[in-house]
Amino acid sequence: MSMTVNGIAEELPDDPRVSLLDFLREHLHLTGSKKGCDQGACGACTVLVDGQRVLSCLALAIQFEGSGVTTIEGLGRPGRLHRLQQAFVDHDGFQCGYCTPGQICSAVGMAGEIGRGVPSYVTSDLEAETIELTEDELRERMSGNLCRCGAYNGIVAAVAETYAEHPLAEAAE
Ligand code: FES
Ligand code: FES
Repeated sequence: MSMTVNGIAEELPDDPRVSLLDFLREHLHLTGSKKGCDQGACGACTVLVDGQRVLSCLALAIQFEGSGVTTIEGLGRPGRLHRLQQAFVDHDGFQCGYCTPGQICSAVGMAGEIGRGVPSYVTSDLEAETIELTEDELRERMSGNLCRCGAYNGIVAAVAETYAEHPLAEAAE
């Protein structure tokens, strides 16, 4: 049994109780995904599974046999940053950086959701062919990702700039 993590096939753990977060961090040593609350409340552990955002602390690794997982390490790397990573740098979208991998993975997943026409709590026109990424939409859709440093204005600016200039139907590679 295996899954693909950042394009590499990885054997799943023998113990079916291992969370996806612990599998990534402790077994594969991909420590970009952070353990904040370990109970689904902070978003620091957000990764992408087949392009959709998932709280990896609430999921078992074995659930995703055959799936493709993308972590922050798979989105970009030094010298070849994902455009959202660069935007976070440009807009001071972080302070300590603990929440940042989850924020960025979540924003990529959010862009895919908007591209697929998935409405949020604040979407006013459920019949619209395209959902506009207003600041209200952006803040609502990113509200599951907490930042203890309060870098929210920079985070919103970075995400807004990135997806104002590029198509929203982005999927994680
Ligand atoms: Fe998963 Fe907080 S560590 S939501
Ligand atoms: Fe410190 Fe968000 S930058 S928690």
